[in-house]
Amino acid sequence: MDTAQHRAIAEAAAALRRGELVGMPTETVYGLAGDATNPGAVQKIFALKGRPADHPLIVHVSGANMLPRYAARVTPLAEKLAEAFWPGPLTLIVERGAAISEQVTGGQASLGLRAPAHPMAQALLAAFDGPLAAPSANRFGRVSPTTAAHVRAEFGSALGLILDGGPSSIGIESTIVDARGTAPRILRPGMIDAAHIVAVAGALADSQRAFSPRVSGALASHYAPDTPLAVLDRAALTICAKQLLERQLIPRLLMREHLPEGLCGIALPDSPSLYAQQLYAALRALDALGADALLVEAPPDSLPWRAIHDRLRRAASGVGIACYTP
Ligand code: TXA
Ligand code: MG
Repeated sequence: MDTAQHRAIAEAAAALRRGELVGMPTETVYGLAGDATNPGAVQKIFALKGRPADHPLIVHVSGANMLPRYAARVTPLAEKLAEAFWPGPLTLIVERGAAISEQVTGGQASLGLRAPAHPMAQALLAAFDGPLAAPSANRFGRVSPTTAAHVRAEFGSALGLILDGGPSSIGIESTIVDARGTAPRILRPGMIDAAHIVAVAGALADSQRAFSPRVSGALASHYAPDTPLAVLDRAALTICAKQLLERQLIPRLLMREHLPEGLCGIALPDSPSLYAQQLYAALRALDALGADALLVEAPPDSLPWRAIHDRLRRAASGVGIACYTP
């Protein structure tokens, strides 16, 4: 990091100590960070995000050595997963220790902890020297931000300081694993997938053998752009786009690798990690065009794409786009 970045980190740590909020880059998405031990700061996070008070926040720490400080009980499972994946895109659900109030966890006795790998997040945690509560830095129910400019677009002048750490390298939110028992339970899929978790921690909890993840505390309408969005396979999508055009409606497309001839949109790489990295910026860009519908090509139905499927399903929920496909 250069001198300007070091100065920005020091300024951000001072703001956090005063109980103010800071936009924080992480490798998954940008966070809206505040002092997790300051009730006023935590209250500001809920207020600025427009988030219901019973919706728990993730607390960010520097590394695995912080587990005993904030968890009431560190299970061998939590220890193993933290050793293997921290710092990185994994959130562990543990029993909440007394150092974190139930205001942070929306009244729950459990706590989500994550050690982010982004160098500026690590530098901020070191300079602040305490736990940082940080949800994704978007207004409630909206697409998560993966650049500092996205965070500014969400909050404008209502948020003072945003640290610019460049585009997030992972691009979608962390995998959440309940590590309170003996077997891991995935609550939110992420780019650390079920196979990675199983390789380190053994078989998933019985309730998850079939693995249909449930995002605890999240609503179906998460991660949604303003424009109605549908996820379709390539053939159905092309037909749907033409039908919309015939009705003088404008579709924009999000495809893998290449766009069908004569139709407008964005083509993302056919690799889960590159696709995830660019997904939210693409959704924001397409949403800004003010089209009548966003049509997204369904990704392959394989494990590495599962977290992307999950986010697209949420972006599409509750929206009707009338197309008649055979
Ligand atoms: O990658 C990420 O996890 C990003 C970056 C900023 O770290 N953060 C993030 O936070 O996505 P947020 O607040 O937007 O999403 C956190 C999710 C919510 O669905 C919440 O319900 C769940 O984590 N969560 C947090 N604490 C929990 C708990 N104690 N038990 C169950 N679910 C919890
Ligand atoms: Mg979020």
